[in-house]
Amino acid sequence: MVTMKTVLILASLVALVVGSYPQYHQNVKTKTLDPKLVGVQKKVLSLLEYWKQTDTEAEYYNIGKSYDVEANIESYTDKEAVTEFLYYYKAGFLAKNELFSIFYERQALEVIALYKLFYHAKDFETFYKTAAFARVYLNEGQFVYAYYMAVIQREDTRGIVLPPPYEVMPEYFVNMDVLFKLYRIQMQKGIIVPEQAEKYGIITKDNDYYFYANYSGPWTYDNNEHLLSYFTEDIGWNSYYYYFNMKSPFWGKGADVLKGFKGRRGEIYYYIYQQILARYYLERLANGLGEIPRFSWFEKFPTGYYPSIGPYLSSFVHRSEDYYLADADNIDDIQFIDYYEKNFLQYLQNGQFKANKYEVDLYNSKSINFVGNYWQSNTDLYEKVQPRNYWRSYEVAARRVLGGAPRNYADHVYIPAALDFYQTSLRDPAFYQLYGKILEYIIQYKEHLEPYTKDVLHYVGVKVNDVKVDKLVTFFEYFDWNATNALYFSEQQLESVAPSFIVRQPRLNHKPFTVTIDIKSDVEAEAVFKIFIGPKYDGNGVPISLEDNWMNFVELDWFTHKLTSGQNKVERKSEQFFFYKEDSVPLRKVYELLNNGQVPLYMAEKFLFPPRRLMLPRGTTGGFPFQLYVIVYPYQAPAAEWGEMKEYVIDNKPYGYPFDRPVPVAYHFIQPNMYFKDVYIYQEGEQYPWDTSYYSQNLVSKH
Ligand SMILES: *[C@@H]1O[C@H](CO)[C@@H](O)[C@H](O)[C@H]1NC(C)=O
Ligand SMILES: *[C@@H]1O[C@H](CO)[C@@H](O)[C@H](O)[C@H]1NC(C)=O
Repeated sequence: MVTMKTVLILASLVALVVGSYPQYHQNVKTKTLDPKLVGVQKKVLSLLEYWKQTDTEAEYYNIGKSYDVEANIESYTDKEAVTEFLYYYKAGFLAKNELFSIFYERQALEVIALYKLFYHAKDFETFYKTAAFARVYLNEGQFVYAYYMAVIQREDTRGIVLPPPYEVMPEYFVNMDVLFKLYRIQMQKGIIVPEQAEKYGIITKDNDYYFYANYSGPWTYDNNEHLLSYFTEDIGWNSYYYYFNMKSPFWGKGADVLKGFKGRRGEIYYYIYQQILARYYLERLANGLGEIPRFSWFEKFPTGYYPSIGPYLSSFVHRSEDYYLADADNIDDIQFIDYYEKNFLQYLQNGQFKANKYEVDLYNSKSINFVGNYWQSNTDLYEKVQPRNYWRSYEVAARRVLGGAPRNYADHVYIPAALDFYQTSLRDPAFYQLYGKILEYIIQYKEHLEPYTKDVLHYVGVKVNDVKVDKLVTFFEYFDWNATNALYFSEQQLESVAPSFIVRQPRLNHKPFTVTIDIKSDVEAEAVFKIFIGPKYDGNGVPISLEDNWMNFVELDWFTHKLTSGQNKVERKSEQFFFYKEDSVPLRKVYELLNNGQVPLYMAEKFLFPPRRLMLPRGTTGGFPFQLYVIVYPYQAPAAEWGEMKEYVIDNKPYGYPFDRPVPVAYHFIQPNMYFKDVYIYQEGEQYPWDTSYYSQNLVSKH
């Protein structure tokens, strides 16, 4: 019997469902792909289709099956890479069906050898054949890691679009309850009783299945951390982190992966983590969760976590509340971590770092690149002491300890933890606590630098008179994403068009808004504008001074504008903000565009940015207070050698400027060319919409 209450709930749910269908696949910004690359693009995508299983009918199969790497050694620009790969290959790679993690040494060495083989293939044809070979014979996880990265790094696949990580590896992005429903429908060959299916949040349309998905609840996180699950489990957020580690893997030489941008590697490391942490902190504040907890390696770790994730083979480990870190299994790692931290402090006290045949002046602002490399323990830190056989790293040890898994039995026999994978790291609250700790160390280095003075920050003759912002509104909307790759298909299914398995999940978004900046200028010049958002009050509701707050600002926008003499009115729409990209479109849409020689612009050029949807933290019904900060300063062109990252750089200032250094006196930031503006963010609709049951509408969005 339908009670009045259900009717009411249903009514509001209908409103939610109908009112918020995203139009995200309608007006996709595209770019024309070089016609020579259309074939390349299709081949790149084809190798990722159903990549976890073998399709003996597919084109790649026969190519890969008969390809002989050794016999083709002349087809690689670096013979050494081939020899190294063959060494591991003959000794035996991680077997198929084993779970691959880059944080276990042996598997990592294998995958790096595979990546190098891909990278050094002398032309695209060779790369394709090598990849087909790897797909047929090697571990699936290693194949996809090396392949994805090779497409990002190779010159001849520049501008080529990859499906987002969540479409490639859905099982790392969706909780097990949903995954199980997918498996079940596939096992039942799609037989569903519509009435029952609706009850379980499954609907079907046009040969495709749609699965309503919730986020994790209180059974997954302790300490109310589950309130943030819509954020920490967001597929775009987690993909962002995956892409970052594809572009700048800790084991890759800066000169290879970042090219001329290598000199800024440590700076980027700091900046990316600072932005991740600052953004996360804003979300915590809006949810009343307060400060990011701090922890000691020698105490109990209070924040438990039960990831509802289970790719295959094994579900992830559960770290209980008050997990004791320094037990016998971990003590070696803890000792290493502890020394690593103390060493850093000691170098800092001496004002210089002296090891690995380096001598670095820690009072120099450029040394951030060294400091970032130190904390990432990346290859550049050891570039002067090659060759070495040293695989110990602070991050790897810290992830192992915090993950909470029992000691691994062999390199390939381990219980996975969320921190073992870039796809799932951001789900674990421990991630933010760990990187919060690392940032604190880096900030201690920054405290030795000369702060920006009033003169440096000043822009003579330029005054920001006012900043106006539209009402800032956040809401949840459904988003459909293609999780078909989580499944395995029969030959018959592959020969016809296999159905798509689509996960439908509410996700955070905001209404577009405009920031209007009124400026009075005495100069005519190209100027740089930046817009930041930061907290106004700390976790206890106490106003934070800039001295304690500068590291909490999230950079929203960065652009240049030509100032004219007199009054200037500069309008920026949130859709234009520099630091964000649109969501990826599903594969079917990519193919559709490709038929007209087009690819989605953001997937081709700006894939390293976080999703635009997430720029604002979720508001509250009554409005949650934050502040915007706007600065205008003279433009200086970026250096020519940064070309590798030209889509990600506007001028020659450090990332995060002027909040890339501590602010010892807030007074320096009271200047005519800057403006602080109080804002409120309002949430429309429910704050946690997945807490109610609303999946019964047999509605499918039109895209
Ligand atoms: C979903 O993914 C599968 C496998 O990659 C693909 O064949 C299918 O076309 C995709 N469906 C949509 C709607 O993009
Ligand atoms: C989502 O969670 C709510 C509340 O626990 C529950 O009623 C609903 O069935 C769940 N929906 C799905 C699709 O699992």
